[in-house]
Amino acid sequence: MSRTTVRKAVIPAAGLGTRFLPVTKASPKEMLPLVDKPLIQYAVEEAVASGIEDIIIVTGRGKRAIEDHFDRSVELEENLKSAGKSQLLHQIRQISNLANFCYVRQSEALGLGHAVLCAQHLIGDEPFAVILGDEIIDAAVPALAQLIHVYKKRHGAVLGVQDVPKQDVSRYGIVTPKRLAAGLHRVQDMVEKPSPSDAPSTLAVIGRYVLPPEIFPILRKTVPGKNGEIQLTDALRELAKKSPMFAQEIKGQRHDAGDKLGFLIATVEFALKNPTLGTDFNEYLLSRTRMITNDRRK
Ligand code: UTP
Repeated sequence: MSRTTVRKAVIPAAGLGTRFLPVTKASPKEMLPLVDKPLIQYAVEEAVASGIEDIIIVTGRGKRAIEDHFDRSVELEENLKSAGKSQLLHQIRQISNLANFCYVRQSEALGLGHAVLCAQHLIGDEPFAVILGDEIIDAAVPALAQLIHVYKKRHGAVLGVQDVPKQDVSRYGIVTPKRLAAGLHRVQDMVEKPSPSDAPSTLAVIGRYVLPPEIFPILRKTVPGKNGEIQLTDALRELAKKSPMFAQEIKGQRHDAGDKLGFLIATVEFALKNPTLGTDFNEYLLSRTRMITNDRRK
């Protein structure tokens, strides 16, 4: 097995989604729809478009709908078939054929690092990707493909980053970068959610990673940090001390769909781009803007 081929991706989806309560009380955040597709399907499609064959989804209590979504739905398929709705039928069948799906349970939400560790036995001794499904990245070249491209050349862990406004750094993991080329940096260190005055840069890690299997023994030794959770950032800091780690600035429009405002913005953007709904939705927004402007003039 070539160590440069990234075939597997882990999608951690066992978080509690507290920023999106109450809807996430009994329904998985990952199943919230952006127009007509659940968030997690965008993540899976990005992985597949980046060359991933095996998708490992880390789930937890109350997340059964995710497995059902990527499974076949024989009754629905029969119904669509007999109703002659062949296009819908094709669309529905495609979902279960996207990749090889595998599920592992994280019995307690002990942090992102712990969620990744839960997938170790399914990854084995090869590099793998991690995609956080609530970070939606709308890009001409899939975000993960941009990282895999760097991994193939540099043979070290690659983190996807984007420049964020200084006042927002405390929401992210921030890297200490050493510039190597346009958009590419060597990661010297990183810090989780720093205050703007302590941040080493404004390059934020945005939910896309390509990691070597060497991360697993480090994760196993990582002690719980903030909120008693095993933080992936802590393990990445250790890995960066031992082997080269890179940060690639991802080209694309990112939406934090795990946050209510971010989700609403993503919904509007995706609805406007939707080939069936876009024109009518745009018309609605324009008429609404005209109404507000008229009201203000009164
Ligand atoms: P987040 O912190 O963004 O997600 O974790 P969350 O915990 O679900 O949401 P909030 O912050 O409480 O609103 C990033 C990703 O890591 C997963 C989440 O599902 C999310 O996709 N995660 C987090 C796990 O799988 N397990 C965990 O223990 C924690």
